Amino acid sequence: MFIFVLLFGGLALWQAGTAIYHLWFSPLAKFPGPKLAASTLLYEFYYEVICSGQYTRHIEKMHEKYGPIVRISPYEVHIKDPDFCVEAFSPVKKLDKYGWWYRVFGGPGATVSTEHHDVHRSRRATFKNLLSPVAVRGFVPTILEKVKQAGLIMSHHAQMGRPVNMSNLYRCIAADTVSAYALPASLNLLDSEDLGEEFQSGLRLFFEAATTMRFLGFLQPLMMMMPDIIFRRLLTNPAKSLIKLIRRLEACVDETIQKPSDTGKSRSCLIECINSNTYREPGAFHERLLQEAEQFIVAGTETTGYALSVTTFYILQNVDIQKKLRQELVDAQISLNEHLDITVLQNLPYLVSYSPLGNHMDMELELAVATS
Ligand code: HEM
Repeated sequence: MFIFVLLFGGLALWQAGTAIYHLWFSPLAKFPGPKLAASTLLYEFYYEVICSGQYTRHIEKMHEKYGPIVRISPYEVHIKDPDFCVEAFSPVKKLDKYGWWYRVFGGPGATVSTEHHDVHRSRRATFKNLLSPVAVRGFVPTILEKVKQAGLIMSHHAQMGRPVNMSNLYRCIAADTVSAYALPASLNLLDSEDLGEEFQSGLRLFFEAATTMRFLGFLQPLMMMMPDIIFRRLLTNPAKSLIKLIRRLEACVDETIQKPSDTGKSRSCLIECINSNTYREPGAFHERLLQEAEQFIVAGTETTGYALSVTTFYILQNVDIQKKLRQELVDAQISLNEHLDITVLQNLPYLVSYSPLGNHMDMELELAVATS
């Protein structure tokens, strides 16, 4: 009993001490915002985890009350000014990424969540060519193949009079294409009977769990100590799907590391490129390769799938837009065959203005400047 009192007393004292520091002595103390948000991460935890990702919406309300610059946590201020975004992220500044925030993507081994500027730069350089416009153009046949396959699935559903879940279908196209880029072989979700539903549920869990683990990362070692038999009983179906996906990626990584590089191949995938890099960063290379594969697939699937779903919704809602888009495609004689020139598509003004990024979707551009 005495131990518990001591433990909780110590914890309460430590919380009070850090809250006093954050409120009065931190370099961010002068910025306006709710006192609770400034003194503890539990405020953000409530909106982000308990209310399922509602903090961005709540921050909007905070701006209405406190103005364009608001302190949103003990370590962050939020600036509502798109011009400042350009200034803050200018390449000359060589800013580090905010490691705590990037925990949402999983481990720190992958490029997207690499904290230090110079390490990020060298990792990014390894696969820069893989994302160049020339490389993307060379990938058009693979994209077309996936789009055509999705078209056949839609026709089949139409013939059977069954609705098709477009949100899943788009995510399958995206995941199949991006995995063909990142792994030695595509995930081929469009071939799956459930049309990627299992994969989607695993991906959703990935984001939910990653957001929670941002705050509760200290629990991870305890979870690792949990006996296997209890761990298995706690697993939900989405968790099983996620583990299955990770096992599949692990197998790809193992295969890439073990097999000798195939010099006769016309194109190497992302993890082959990283693997064949002569400079190997010290540390767990296998783990880094796995995180890179995981995060590349996450980065390219959810974003593209979401953007396409939202864009389709708005196009279908508006008959005028539909007509204009169709007309533009007909006039440009666009057809889905191997001769499709992507630059022609990129120069269709109406299509481009309604493309997801041109439309900005319904996402807000937000900027959080972090200090620790
Ligand atoms: C509509 C589609 C997409 C949107 C809105 C989007 C958005 C973003 C954003 C905002 C970032 C910056 C993250 C940060 O550092 O804070 C990013 C990074 C990244 N995205 Fe995308 N993305 C999309 C599609 C894709 C696709 C298709 C791929 C893969 C083929 C991809 C791969 C990556 C990678 C690897 C990074 C990390 C780059 C780095 O850290 O240097 N993204 N994306």
